[in-house]
Amino acid sequence: RKKIILDTDPGIDDAMAILFAQAHPDIDLVGITTVYGNATIENGTRNALYLKEKFNFSCDVAKGTAKPIQRPPVGATVVVHGETGFGDIHSSEPKHACADPRPAYQYIIDTVKANPGEITLVTVGPLTNIALALDAAPEITSLVKEVVVMGGAFGMNGHRGNVTPYAEANIHDDPHAADKVFTADWPVVIVGLDVTEESFFSAGYIDDLKAEGGKVGEFIWDVSRYYLRFYANKLGLEGCHVHDPSAIAYVIKPELFTLREGPIRVVTDGPAEGLTLQKFDGRRHQTDDWAEMPEQKVGIAVNDKELLALYRDSI
Ligand code: BDR
Ligand code: CA
Repeated sequence: RKKIILDTDPGIDDAMAILFAQAHPDIDLVGITTVYGNATIENGTRNALYLKEKFNFSCDVAKGTAKPIQRPPVGATVVVHGETGFGDIHSSEPKHACADPRPAYQYIIDTVKANPGEITLVTVGPLTNIALALDAAPEITSLVKEVVVMGGAFGMNGHRGNVTPYAEANIHDDPHAADKVFTADWPVVIVGLDVTEESFFSAGYIDDLKAEGGKVGEFIWDVSRYYLRFYANKLGLEGCHVHDPSAIAYVIKPELFTLREGPIRVVTDGPAEGLTLQKFDGRRHQTDDWAEMPEQKVGIAVNDKELLALYRDSI
C-alpha cells in the first residue's frame, strides 16, 4: 500500500479527495495535515476532524498554518466552498477526535523521517506547510518518495488560472511557498487545471454516488450542493470539475495521466502573481538559471473516463 500524507484545505472537493483516499485499498492514509485556503485554518481543521469522527478514520489529523509565508492572506473562498468550507454543512465540534499536538509542518517532518523513502506528500491546498517543513528540515527532500500537487495551470486547455486569468487558487494563495516546493530537489508531479478541468463530475454522476455509495456517497452528495450551485451560477455548468480527487487518482493509477518533464517556477508578484511556468523545450539560453534546476513533471492529459470509473468504484 502507498503511504500518503494528505495536505488539504477542506474544502468541498478536498472532502471528495479525502474520502477517495480513505476508500481505496491501495492507499494507506497515514495523516491529514490542514492548511488555510478554502476556509480558515480553524474551520478547515474542524472539517477534517469531523470527517475523521464521522467515518471512523484511523489517520492522524495535524493542524497547519493560518497564513502564507510572505504575501498578505487572500482570505477564505466563501463563494465556492461556503462560509465554513463545507457548503451547506456546518460541521459540529468533534466529540472524540482530536488533532495531533504538533503543528502540521513538524508532523510532516517527523512522519517522513520515521518512514524514509515511503511517504508520498499529496497536496491539494496552498503549499505553505510543505515550504515550512522544507525550511525547518531541508534533508526531507531525500526521504520523501514523491510530492503530488494539485495546483497551477500550464495552458494545455487554454487556461492559466481560475482565481485570476494567470493564477490557480492553491498557487495564488502562496506563490512563494509553491516556488520553493517546485524548485527543491525532490520529485514533484503537478496535477493542475490542465488535467483537473478535463474530468467532470456531472450532477447525475453525483446522484449515482449517493444512490450506490452508502454513507460516504450520501455525504459527497450533501456537501456538493453548494459547490454545484456555484458551478451552475458562475460557470453555467451542471456538475463540477475534478480538482483535488485527481491528485489521489494519480497516486493510485499514474498511468491515467500523460506527463511532461521540465523545471518549474512560479511568478511571485506583479500582475501574473501565482502563474506557473515549465521549461520543457530543451533549448539553451544566454543566461540559463533554469539549466541547473530539478526536472519536475506536469500532467498534460488524462483518461477522464477511467478516472471517473475509478472514483465511483472506490466510493
Ligand atoms: C483548488 O482550489 C480549491 O478551491 C480547491 O479545493 C482545489 O484545491 C482548485 O483550483
Ligand atoms: Ca483544495
